[in-house]
Amino acid sequence: MRGKAGQSADRAIDRQILELFRERGSVISGGELSRVLKVSRTAVWKHITGLRAQGYRIESLHASGYRLVESPDVLTSAAVTAGLAAGRLGRQVICLADTGSTNLEAYRLAEQGAPEGTLVLADTQNQGKGRLGRSWHSPPGVNLYCSLILRPSIPPVAAFQLTFLSAVAVARAIESEARLRPFIKWPNDILVNGKKAAGLLNEMSAEVDRVNFIVLGIGVNLNMRADQFPDDLRHPATSLFLETGETVNRLSFVRTLIETLDELYDRYLRDGYDPVRKEWLERSGMVGLRVAVDGTTERLEGVVMGIDDSGALLVDQAGGTVARVLAGDVRIL
Ligand code: BTN
Repeated sequence: MRGKAGQSADRAIDRQILELFRERGSVISGGELSRVLKVSRTAVWKHITGLRAQGYRIESLHASGYRLVESPDVLTSAAVTAGLAAGRLGRQVICLADTGSTNLEAYRLAEQGAPEGTLVLADTQNQGKGRLGRSWHSPPGVNLYCSLILRPSIPPVAAFQLTFLSAVAVARAIESEARLRPFIKWPNDILVNGKKAAGLLNEMSAEVDRVNFIVLGIGVNLNMRADQFPDDLRHPATSLFLETGETVNRLSFVRTLIETLDELYDRYLRDGYDPVRKEWLERSGMVGLRVAVDGTTERLEGVVMGIDDSGALLVDQAGGTVARVLAGDVRIL
């Protein structure tokens, strides 16, 4: 049996092989793999056999080498990180088959000192958490459930900016992977054709004047079928599959999402919140719409004017009073 160190060396070689397949996009000879990876040809063959057992379809072409024909839609750390075009984020990816909540797991790891950019992914969650104390239905094999650890040097009052950043990233990823035009509904729902396709739950550990870490929790309904939705949903919900009739590859989606988050986070650290706010507003299209807000204590109606510097939704009520909404459910009327 391989020890922990042996297993992680095996995973590193698997990752390198997948990276080489991605880089070349064509046939690679066993000899070249053995040279680049600095392992014997027998070891190369063993790794190819191992990858096949994980569901990768790799052809052996007589006398010329190996060719990757198809990747399985399973979320493994090697598959998620191989050749990822990201700098800060996704360097450490933890893939769990089953967990209570990826947010809880990421929070626990962050408290233990996990570095910025660590991503926790799960195939299924049995206690998925939603906003306002609700639960997030998380059946296996179909959707994306992930939580990313960030450690920005910002005060706690600015943490909402990263919620907006993650909403923009999810919207962009949906657009590029499913060719749909999503709409961001304040504070952090992603709607497709008026129905909720993704939700964000961001949690923070902070002191009075600085953030220790933020966990960005992201759930995207990728391939869920109609009969997999719970009956008691408060708002209409959908999946990308239900909207397009096409299955979304989870692996490809999560890789695009990490790369997009990485690009946006880099820009945020360099240029600040303004570009995020601008894109959030463009993608939200809420300005000028009439909404009803069910807040924690009151209900109000009015026309959306924008968001202020602390992320509150500004709603112009009849009579000229502008309400600052900090939490609640918004319905577009
Ligand atoms: C919402 O209510 O809209 C927020 C849903 C957030 C769900 C995601 S799934 C991954 C992460 N882990 C959780 O327990 N929740 C978030």
